[in-house]
Amino acid sequence: MTKRRSQHWFGGLGKDAFIHRSWMKNNGLPDDAFDGRPVIGICNTFSDFTPCHAHFRGLVEHIKAGVLEAGGLPLEFPVFSCGESNLRPTAMLFRNLASMDVEEAIRGNPMDGVVLMAGCDKTTPSLLMGAASCDLPTIVISGGPMLNGHFRGEEIGSGTDVWKFSEDVRAGLMSAQDFAGAESAMSRSPGHCMTMGTASTMASMVEALGMALPGNAAWPAVDARRNRLARLTGRRIVEMVEEDLRPSAVLGRDAFANAIRVNGAIGGSTNAVVHLLAIAGRVGTELTLDDWDRLGRDVPTILDLMPSGRFLMEDFCYAGGLPAVMKEIADLLRLDALTVTGKSVGENIADARNDNSEVIRPRDRALTAQGGIAVLRGNLAPDGAVIKPSAASPELMKHRGRAVVFEDIDDYKARVDHPALDIDETCVMVLKNCGPKGYPGMAEVGNMALPQKLLKKGVRDMVRISDARMSGTAFGTVVLHAAPEAAIGGPLALVSTGDMIEIDVEARRLHLDVTEAELARRRAAWAAPKPAMAGGYQSLYVERVLQADRGADLDFLVGCRGHAIPRESH
Ligand code: FES
Repeated sequence: MTKRRSQHWFGGLGKDAFIHRSWMKNNGLPDDAFDGRPVIGICNTFSDFTPCHAHFRGLVEHIKAGVLEAGGLPLEFPVFSCGESNLRPTAMLFRNLASMDVEEAIRGNPMDGVVLMAGCDKTTPSLLMGAASCDLPTIVISGGPMLNGHFRGEEIGSGTDVWKFSEDVRAGLMSAQDFAGAESAMSRSPGHCMTMGTASTMASMVEALGMALPGNAAWPAVDARRNRLARLTGRRIVEMVEEDLRPSAVLGRDAFANAIRVNGAIGGSTNAVVHLLAIAGRVGTELTLDDWDRLGRDVPTILDLMPSGRFLMEDFCYAGGLPAVMKEIADLLRLDALTVTGKSVGENIADARNDNSEVIRPRDRALTAQGGIAVLRGNLAPDGAVIKPSAASPELMKHRGRAVVFEDIDDYKARVDHPALDIDETCVMVLKNCGPKGYPGMAEVGNMALPQKLLKKGVRDMVRISDARMSGTAFGTVVLHAAPEAAIGGPLALVSTGDMIEIDVEARRLHLDVTEAELARRRAAWAAPKPAMAGGYQSLYVERVLQADRGADLDFLVGCRGHAIPRESH
């Protein structure tokens, strides 16, 4: 039998093994902790600044119990916690930094397998990217969503209702006192956003990819069954070490095809596009933006959750969770794909049932016949831009309008509510310099709030185009991730107020109606914006980040570098 990885630290009688064991014993570990049993690293993203993970100190104890029950040694380690609600300028700027932290912590430490504790939006991709670049046996457990929000007799959803309430306040329809009351009512339990925002989407994606146990996506954070799942996850990773079941065996083309189709069925976040592209890049599986369009195109959105629909994650859980959705679209899935259970997707969902056909709708009553993510191309985004049709207004899916351009987010904030702004509901709002290099970090500002004067007229949606992302909890006819981005001179940089723009989602077309000669003239006069910060991580990020169509990873992080035992430290 080959020597277990952790035994390269803890096994034997040499000076180095003495050092590795002795210091570990200062916490009370007995001699037999080092007898060759699987050492399981538990990657904990707890942080008081990441409220979606505030319960992780409790959750981790259940994972540890499971590892111990299965005969492993659980050892917890912290990594950078990418919390969405507090980190500035945007948590996405730090997704790749966190992934480096995860990768190096796994490779440099004596562990045989890893449990990743994910939850808030960027934590799931950052952990999975880092772990995929190491390729030790790995399993994910998500922290679970918050309970449904309740305010004045109505259910309210994380994020989704924030955008609505803030527009109502600006339109004079909601008082400041009610706005504050809604704040407390929205986030009333531990857990992450309970709409089908990016956190719930990514929890669903890891389950669809086969990297988490069935049921991972939907159990609320406070439900005892979330703790039970944590315990079973702890047990399972010990078995996975014995089976040498690694991400490279799970994360093949079939797994990503399944995840893309599931994303269409659940009306998942546009952020899943960049995250899955980046994860695939780490594991070495070929995946392109066009795969998103091709594989997701005919998938109906059957999950009736905000922001596309009516319900929330708690309802999803009681309806049967992700296994029930996957069973509804089983004919569209690659059922033979291997998962961390050691079984196939088909075996995992065989006993799933849909207990509420209002929440998980039958396909003949789908929310949107063609869910998925549409990839638009044209002279405005030669490398692609994305839109989520299920969250857009059907009447705007084919539209021609006059561009109203904001040069960057500061320009937008300074002018959007100015009474003199020449704009009406037929216009197309264009926001530049918010992409990976431009913001930097590709912030969630693409769902620009509409001008106050139009909100007061009752306008609730307009076509908006940018190189930014948008929150998975947001909605509207919003074209995102335009590539190449404006900050590197992509065509978006050349749009002027007054230009005509055509969008045709059915034809997958995004066109700037300006002659090539005029665009060439503007290109010659274009100057790159100054970077927001000189030096530090931000400079490294801006220099090396890939465009959105390649997952916005840092170019030198793409690929799997494995988990060979590093040279001894003493
Ligand atoms: Fe953490 Fe939404 S802010 S999941």
